[in-house]
Amino acid sequence: MIGVIKKKRVAVLISGRGSNMSALIAGAKAPDYPAEVVVVIANKADAGGLEAARADGIAALAIPHRDFASKAEHEAAVSAALRAAEVDIVCLAGYMRLISPEFVREWEGRMLNIHPSLLPLFRGLHTHEQALEAGVRIHGCTVHFVTEGMDEGPIIAQTAVSVKTGDTPATLTERVLSVEHETYARALALVASGKAVMQNGRTVFSD
Ligand code: GAR
Repeated sequence: MIGVIKKKRVAVLISGRGSNMSALIAGAKAPDYPAEVVVVIANKADAGGLEAARADGIAALAIPHRDFASKAEHEAAVSAALRAAEVDIVCLAGYMRLISPEFVREWEGRMLNIHPSLLPLFRGLHTHEQALEAGVRIHGCTVHFVTEGMDEGPIIAQTAVSVKTGDTPATLTERVLSVEHETYARALALVASGKAVMQNGRTVFSD
């Protein structure tokens, strides 16, 4: 008998255009994908990804951090929305807010982020400028579990791209973004299916 596997319910948190969000929504439409995107939340009312999500039939909410007196109050509102949507996994996708240790602990092992570099190289902002400045010949993206340290949680998936002679931050941004989408969908599938689990600060993989 073939059992029906319950898909994990995913929220995607964004701040901008949401191309990674759209890739997760598209990837999760495959019938055998182990997760479904049930809500998109932006911390900016004008985040372009909100309209894109709605066009894909996904509930999309703006919870602007500027409407709240403190980070704690903003995060409480986000948490309430996540609970209301019965979310299992949170995916940060260009969510440009530092998250408090309390929020990280609440979602530990169940919150993912995509970062535009091959971590542990080039944490923080302007990763493509950092890569060009360092002179690396290989660059890329990383999906990792979110922990309290910025951009330093256990790695789930990475994809490398070449750095080419004459590259600018703009050309490198485009080349890395072109591999981010597939990398994020693959990493989310690993976590949602239980094949990648965070244990004792490491990612443990199984078949
Ligand atoms: C992506 O390149 C993502 O890796 C990066 O922001 C961009 C969002 O694009 N995230 C970070 O820099 C996080 N530190 P998108 O809105 O089109 O997905």
